[in-house]
Amino acid sequence: MIHHLRAAGVDFILDARGTAAPVVVHWGRALGDLDAAALRALADAAIPAVAPSSIDRPFRVGVVPLLTEGWTGRPPVEISPFSPALRHLGTRRDGDTLVVTLALGDAWLELRYTLTPQGVLLVDRRVRNDGVADIEVRALAALLPVPARAREVLDFSGRWAGEREPQRLLPGHGVWARDTRHGRGGHDDPFLFTVGTPGFGFRHGEVWATHVAWSGDRSVWFERSDVGFSVVGAGERLDALALAPGETHEAPTVVAVWSDDGLDGLSARLHPWVRSWATPRGPRPVTLNTWEAVYFEQSLERLTPLVDAAARVGAERLVLDDGWFHGRTDDRRALGDWTVDERVWPDGLDPLISRVNGDGLEFGLWVEPEMISDDSDLARAHPEWMLTPADAVTWRFQHVLDLTHPDAWQYIHDRLDALLAQYPIAALKWDHNRDLLVPRTGDQVRALYRLLDALRAAHPGVEIESCASGGARIDLGILRRVDRFWTSDTNDPLARQRIQRWTGILIPPEFLGSHVGDERAHTTGRTASLAFRMTTALFLHAGIESDISKADDAQLDALAAWTALYRAHRALLHGGATVRVDDPDPAVLQHGVVAPDRGEALFAYVALDRFDQALPSPIVLPGLDTDRRYRVRAIDVGAPVRTVQDADPAWLVAGGAVLPGSVLAEGVLPPPLLAPGEALLLHVTTE
Ligand code: DGJ
Repeated sequence: MIHHLRAAGVDFILDARGTAAPVVVHWGRALGDLDAAALRALADAAIPAVAPSSIDRPFRVGVVPLLTEGWTGRPPVEISPFSPALRHLGTRRDGDTLVVTLALGDAWLELRYTLTPQGVLLVDRRVRNDGVADIEVRALAALLPVPARAREVLDFSGRWAGEREPQRLLPGHGVWARDTRHGRGGHDDPFLFTVGTPGFGFRHGEVWATHVAWSGDRSVWFERSDVGFSVVGAGERLDALALAPGETHEAPTVVAVWSDDGLDGLSARLHPWVRSWATPRGPRPVTLNTWEAVYFEQSLERLTPLVDAAARVGAERLVLDDGWFHGRTDDRRALGDWTVDERVWPDGLDPLISRVNGDGLEFGLWVEPEMISDDSDLARAHPEWMLTPADAVTWRFQHVLDLTHPDAWQYIHDRLDALLAQYPIAALKWDHNRDLLVPRTGDQVRALYRLLDALRAAHPGVEIESCASGGARIDLGILRRVDRFWTSDTNDPLARQRIQRWTGILIPPEFLGSHVGDERAHTTGRTASLAFRMTTALFLHAGIESDISKADDAQLDALAAWTALYRAHRALLHGGATVRVDDPDPAVLQHGVVAPDRGEALFAYVALDRFDQALPSPIVLPGLDTDRRYRVRAIDVGAPVRTVQDADPAWLVAGGAVLPGSVLAEGVLPPPLLAPGEALLLHVTTE
């Protein structure tokens, strides 16, 4: 039978006739009225000719194509010993899911294709060893066809404090593959691997994208064969996983999404779906994090004025970062010893938490549970709990705790559980500051998931922030189990604007932390105005990471005005549709968030650098109702925005403009002559 899933303008059509592996006939645009006869006609018509010098029958790319059938491309499923005996056992529809079962030699395979109401395709895979001898699973990826017009690849690279740097290329014939080996996503995680029609942008072009919902190593690729097939593949990177008879392996979900409205079209599908995939939480509290404020210089005396200043500016949560636990005087020791340091906190954390709670803030605590320092009581007592060999090279002077060791897992679980029971902790910042640098890390990731799941089941009210040297573990596998990502260790707003723009394609803004740091950024040494720092942090889950106990009244007032602005617009910022503009000037970034009813929006026009012309490119406000009239006005973020000349355009001097959405999307409003490293914040309301 030919199966057809349709949702939100997306079709997924699977030809599951016969005993050969089913074939994805179409994944992309909805194709209009398709009854059973039309589906049959489509599937038959799509059978290709026989290529010259090739196998002697038409070749179709099945969901598990085999070398022996003529597939010389990269195999998505590889099981050893190789068997050419592939049988389609059946395909059934279960709600919005198609369940395909196959036998491949001794392996039993199940592929599940689910189309969500937002048109996001989820591909789940399972393999079971039905034989009597061990088998090795070398790959269990999802493979999806894309049309020949999908020629350009966009994926991501990056480094510490510079995550999710886009890279675009037009591969020729062959495979463009990204295989990662960090044991976590990594700063260079390919993240959302996208192929599309050449030149696609945020608001135009047809795009097909995949993401592996997994916090370990991944394999993602695009292959264009010279025969004429184009495919994308995605899955966890498996290092020859051994399966004993009767054993099953479940692969992480591959998320696949199509749009003909460019990258914003992907976000328009992904964001509402991700919001249903994650745990629902309340309004995202303004968060003061102590890291760049005090680093390891912790004490009640040092932190009390910071807590009070946080309360004064309207922060709602304070997170005590690294440095609070037994012997942790610097980053060279003590990981694993998760008891409060009695020298730093002689009366425990209670006096600090009382102050925090007394000032009306929630309390959060930093931990790095998957790690162990050589210089720790834990390592001295249990050297056998290290995943990394004791003589292996360290990274940030630390080793990895072997969570697959049942006693190590139980120890760390019980320690965290005890801390959560002892103190009124609203949130954990869960850090992970090194690559694993050992082969076969899948079981470690699965053990981490079990740990997070167990702690969340026992403490459902406790939120968790996933941090990994900044943003080296941002994926939808862990987002099932956490509530916030630390997007990057850079609080430099210039760097942040780019990182946030690209991370935000996949992850909705309310899950991404962004903090107002010091005037001189700790990571880059660059200075930025307070207004620019605040506008940059405003759009995500906003916070502060600076010693504001030393700030003057004017700065504190500005921060207070900004947190009030954030609270006033929080529902819009965290519940709307993210939109971005393809600006011809590389110095300009324009982005915004539009309310679901399109009655209100906030936009930022950002000058990253000196404009490439004296009069900068116009303000473009996409995503509004074309027929409705809107009032556009600049909002004061709480501190002055610098311009290179005191000569604002007339509409700004007049206090705003009223225009239809169609006109605003076209780009008619001139911006002020912003100085490099400034942003204009705009509020749009219906007339
Ligand atoms: C790395 C994180 O990304 C920082 O925010 C901070 O928590 C440090 N670790 C603490 O060691």
